[in-house]
Amino acid sequence: MVRSEIGNLRALSRKDIDALLKPESSFDGWVRVMIELERLNLPGMQGYITRGANRVFCYLIHGLKLSSVLEIGNRSGHSTVGLALALKHRTGADRRMVSIDKTDWNDIKNYRRKFGLDCMPQRSLNKVDCASFVEFIVGSSTKVLPKLKQRFDFVFIDGSHRTEIVLADVLNSFRLLNPGGIIVLHDYYPHLKPLWPHRPKISKGPYLAMVEVMKRHPEVHVMSLNDLPWINCWEPSHKTVLAVVARKIGGKNE
Ligand SMILES: C[S@@+](CC[C@H](N)C(=O)[O-])C[C@H]1O[C@@H](n2cnc3c(N)ncnc32)[C@H](O)[C@@H]1O
Repeated sequence: MVRSEIGNLRALSRKDIDALLKPESSFDGWVRVMIELERLNLPGMQGYITRGANRVFCYLIHGLKLSSVLEIGNRSGHSTVGLALALKHRTGADRRMVSIDKTDWNDIKNYRRKFGLDCMPQRSLNKVDCASFVEFIVGSSTKVLPKLKQRFDFVFIDGSHRTEIVLADVLNSFRLLNPGGIIVLHDYYPHLKPLWPHRPKISKGPYLAMVEVMKRHPEVHVMSLNDLPWINCWEPSHKTVLAVVARKIGGKNE
């Protein structure tokens, strides 16, 4: 099979995304995930993946029947555990996950220094019976991704927020996708506009990187998931900085 440079990236439209994120569509799976997430009592701080964002992961993973996840950036473990639980509660899945971070957040000294708690990602995964299918790799994504042999259905990018690194992460991820795979970005601010008045400081890298990706690959588009059908937990709003990277349907933007 001849593959383009964007590899196996799934074609998705905004309509597809809206249908996947209908509140009722994956609700049962989400309730199971949420109950287990709540029990873990992970540290609260800015910059972590919210409950509303973990709900998005669950709906995408269940709705698109995805079984393998690559995560770049685990730190507090909110997204790591949310993604792993979404896989765990997907029936019939041959689940598998790899999580990369340049810092070893499973090292108790690192985690305690940052969060004053012992909720390291590996420990949290043990508590929710997900450890058996999650592998951690400590290293820079730009070095680790080109060497990875596995392929994935879902890549979540929340590592470095520098434009050139996000760009490298997206381009490297294209080659790592299984057929129908998708990429999800965190901290994507469309047109570099802040989303919350009390949080004017934004990460520019993910947006700027995608401008470059779409210049190189006009068949790709990025869909901000701003205005979720549910409240995004720690912000009393429906806004989110998650965005899905997909192939345009029929080569056109919707
Ligand atoms: C915003 S935090 C991730 C938050 C996490 N997803 C969560 O839910 O709490 C970003 C993480 O990316 C890691 N990181 C930064 N640059 C990286 C790189 N080039 N390769 C791998 N990890 C990187 C940092 O060590 C940090 O742990």
